[in-house]
Amino acid sequence: MTAIRADDLVKEYGDVRALDGLSLEIDEGEFFGLLGPNGAGKTTFINILVGLARSTTGSAEVFGHDVEDDYQQARDRIGLAPQEFNVDRFFPIHEVLEHKAGYHGIESEEAERRAAEALKTVGIYDKRDTRFDWLSGGMKRRFLLARALVTDPDLLILDEPTAGVDVELRRELWELVQRLNDDGTTVLLTTHYIEEAEQLCDTVAIMDTGRKIEVASPDDLRGRGEDTLLVTLADAPARPPTFDLDGVGRATLDGTELSVTVDDAGSRAAAVIRTLDRSGHEVVNLELRRASLEEVFVGMTRTDTDASGEVTG
Ligand SMILES: Nc1ncnc2c1ncn2[C@@H]1O[C@H](COP(=O)(O)OP(=O)(O)OP(=O)(O)O)[C@@H](O)[C@H]1O
Ligand SMILES: [Mg+2]
Repeated sequence: MTAIRADDLVKEYGDVRALDGLSLEIDEGEFFGLLGPNGAGKTTFINILVGLARSTTGSAEVFGHDVEDDYQQARDRIGLAPQEFNVDRFFPIHEVLEHKAGYHGIESEEAERRAAEALKTVGIYDKRDTRFDWLSGGMKRRFLLARALVTDPDLLILDEPTAGVDVELRRELWELVQRLNDDGTTVLLTTHYIEEAEQLCDTVAIMDTGRKIEVASPDDLRGRGEDTLLVTLADAPARPPTFDLDGVGRATLDGTELSVTVDDAGSRAAAVIRTLDRSGHEVVNLELRRASLEEVFVGMTRTDTDASGEVTG
């Protein structure tokens, strides 16, 4: 089953085209990452899915329910942890969760049980009688996750859930969300921490200026970047050696340290070593450095005009 389907979504705010024909399909059970620079349109897309914004043209469905025509059916399946804090500030947080559950049709005793469980899940049950404003920044993020979970959603949408969160809490939240995904919850995550997407997501979509640039697995994307072979030679050559080999690019030399750009470190290393050996350079150490998803991402979303056409095209 398809969890999210977006079809040629356009969203205009005055002169700004926040979404410029976005089409996307996310399968049930997937852990899906949405990456893109500030202003790419990620939150706008999420706002349309949860009914906080209306698309100018195009349509979107959540588990087969049109997000406008079948708003309530679609919305009841979604738990959202938004990028911006939007919480009732005057109620104890357990009440905020109970109201939320009630709004989605869960009766009061069950709502109380779920609120307590959600607060325990994110580790702030001892703060249940506190107001949102009095939580620390990290606790606020935890609370937003608890609020997303209180309706036991089939689709969890996390819009930068770990912004400003310390390393330890970030790992904890990752584990928690990973567990939910393992248990069958579909997850849509936006993040500026590329490592987060790399660790968690089965598939990532890269967006820029309201459009989808690419959809692929993190591994596949990494494979498109340039790798580097870092070779240590026994003696410093006078000039960088030259290679006339498929998939092998430029070589730069710093004393005995030779750095060679290749399309794929694993399959090109042997030929590079052989060539060096034949030309009388003794190799004493070799390191393979793989392209990071971050490098590939930056290359794809560069807005300057010399960005390589093949990835942005
Ligand atoms: N309510 C609004 N009114 C006017 N313009 C808006 C509104 N919401 C978003 N925009 C504009 O739409 C564009 C996309 O914004 P959006 O918040 O979707 O980006 P984003 O990808 O979530 O960015 P970030 O990574 O900074 O969160 C931006 O140019 C933004 O200024
Ligand atoms: Mg955003």
